[in-house]
Amino acid sequence: MSTDPTTEDPAEHRARVLAEFAATINPQKVRVMRAAGLDLIEAERSGAWVEDIDGRRFLDCFTSAGSFNVGRRHPRVVAAAKRAVDTLDHGNFLLVSEQTAALATRLAGIAPGNLDCTMFGCGGGEAIDFALKLARGATGRPRIVSTVNGYHGHTGFALSAGGRAAFREPFEPLMPEFGLVPFGDVDALRAAVDATVAAVLLEPIQGEGGIIVAPDGYLASARQICDDAGALLILDEIQTGMGRTGRWWASEHFDVEPDIMTVAKSLGGSLVAISATMFSEDLREFLIPNPFIHLSTFGGSDVACSVALEVIDVIEDEGLLANATARGAQLHAGLAAIAAAHPDQVADVRGLGLMAGIQYAEDSMGPRMSFHLAQHGVLAVYSGNQPSVMRLMPSLVATEADIDHLLGGLDAALDDLLHGRGLPEETAPVRPRRRPPRGA
Ligand SMILES: Cc1ncc(COP(=O)(O)O)c(C=O)c1O
Repeated sequence: MSTDPTTEDPAEHRARVLAEFAATINPQKVRVMRAAGLDLIEAERSGAWVEDIDGRRFLDCFTSAGSFNVGRRHPRVVAAAKRAVDTLDHGNFLLVSEQTAALATRLAGIAPGNLDCTMFGCGGGEAIDFALKLARGATGRPRIVSTVNGYHGHTGFALSAGGRAAFREPFEPLMPEFGLVPFGDVDALRAAVDATVAAVLLEPIQGEGGIIVAPDGYLASARQICDDAGALLILDEIQTGMGRTGRWWASEHFDVEPDIMTVAKSLGGSLVAISATMFSEDLREFLIPNPFIHLSTFGGSDVACSVALEVIDVIEDEGLLANATARGAQLHAGLAAIAAAHPDQVADVRGLGLMAGIQYAEDSMGPRMSFHLAQHGVLAVYSGNQPSVMRLMPSLVATEADIDHLLGGLDAALDDLLHGRGLPEETAPVRPRRRPPRGA
């Protein structure tokens, strides 16, 4: 018989869920979360905030790595989802769908340049997989160039393009003809791109890599290098897109138009799984002889497309791009002041709009700061590929008072750290135990 969570004591409730998760999903994940003070169980989710089952409220600055741009359970998005499930389901993926066509048309209206065509999927990795398949298929070339510390997901092609060896090595050999260059290094990119390269895949701002904004001129040079070699430029806007930086797409800050762009996360409005790979009509030629060459049963489902259409309307109607710019300016000014006040602890602050990162002096400070921030009502997680960097990506509905709360939390958390208050049992990032090599 299952336990009734509505009558259970909150502490027992939390312990039970953690134990079930550890037993059936992964005990190490629970340990890592505990060490970072993040072993909380989300309950009420609303706008920029989340409350856990113990009744603690947090400003959500992780937002599932930028998935809640319109906030969590935005009332208009929830209403659109309810309307959709009253009359629709995910639909027959082989048939022509009204909702899918409507969303593709709407996306074409906000996408940069001539990216008028879309292939839908369920997640970011799937969107990247298709982008890379399309690049190889359309150019007839094998090679893909991506960047050290870049992150594009854990599916086949996406993982092969990933910039962190620890994620790739256990599964090698992965896709052949993939290579990495350092992010931001124009000369290295130029040296790597020749007539055998199908595509260069870049994030305009490396998210998991530690909120590294493309240096001035880098994306424009990448565009030129691709054009010179006849290669395609793919921009992964899965974290940076949908208004996160104050424009629909981060590429707009750099005045660069990609040949292919990937979108996911916030397109689903915190409710549904949906992703989009966008490309030009020229590239679509490759799909005309065989329109079934890439299929996804759940990709671009009728319910998900209905929700995504509402998400785009909400971003426009509520002026969330302007809010991301204004709140971003407030956040960056506050971060600069914190960095100036703590030169020994804070090595750098950076970002664009509401995609910000604070680089601490050393790696273990990321997890420790997650712990202290949680004590001050801020949910924030250090970067996957760079634990010294705390990423701060609140929802675009965050108010001035919310950003003040975040800045106050950062100050208080640094103070706790300096005075050694309430340190977690394990303060360093917990690393998975290495498996002995095969045959050992
Ligand atoms: C830049 C970027 N690309 C791709 C992905 C993969 O998306 P998903 O987890 O939906 O497969 C992520 C996820 O964090 C991401 O940040």
